[in-house]
Amino acid sequence: MNASNQNTKGRPLCFGNWKCNGSIAALRQWAADFDPGGAQAAVCVPYPYLSLAVQLLDKKAAVGCQDISLHAGGAHTGEVSAAMAADCGAQFTLVGHSECRQAGQDDKAVAGRIAQAVGEALIPVLCVGETLEQREAGKLEEVLADQLGAAAAELRQSRSPIVAYEPVWAIGTGRAASADDAQKAVGLVKGILKRTFVDYIPVLYGGSVKAANAAEYMAVDEIDGLLVGGASLKADEFSAICAAS
Ligand code: PGA
Repeated sequence: MNASNQNTKGRPLCFGNWKCNGSIAALRQWAADFDPGGAQAAVCVPYPYLSLAVQLLDKKAAVGCQDISLHAGGAHTGEVSAAMAADCGAQFTLVGHSECRQAGQDDKAVAGRIAQAVGEALIPVLCVGETLEQREAGKLEEVLADQLGAAAAELRQSRSPIVAYEPVWAIGTGRAASADDAQKAVGLVKGILKRTFVDYIPVLYGGSVKAANAAEYMAVDEIDGLLVGGASLKADEFSAICAAS
């Protein structure tokens, strides 16, 4: 996949995140049914399915993982290093997904993971976003600036980083951000990135995206693509999201 590019909207990026869902049988069916249309599609599958997903999806979608270890290897039971993910054919990894942050990953751990990804030429897809409490306290810009700032040095080392704005309150809740709110927040992300980076970085919106609302987000100039959780598990729904992008 080629995500680092020009200053204009290129082919829409549609990322799926299966989270802790799926099976070999489901993956086989999904790969047979999925149609990316004109979108640049990508899917983050659970680790055990990486190699098979790479094999089955071939040119339909890039394959990546949902997180990687902070460590390059060694005595870290249960962890998967960036090198292992790359070895299995992963091209990218999510980093700092809110579910990982909620499970204890702080900004330093997120930055360290970006460094691991970059070291193995994986594209880091850095997830940022505010909780409802932070939004209601008027801290949206501060939270985004803190999360992006903490990762800036490591992101700058990547040739083709991607950022995903995912308001925590919209993830898996069915309560999607309005296109207007998404535009404002992604605009803030882009403003912060512009002050920190020289190059253009694509920014995705994520949080309760489905086929019925995908086009609204993609009509927003600032939004370069989508990060889709629950709705990416169904091949026909994710195909429709790609078509609507
Ligand atoms: P959702 O998840 O689409 O199910 O809200 C998005 C994500 O977690 O990336």
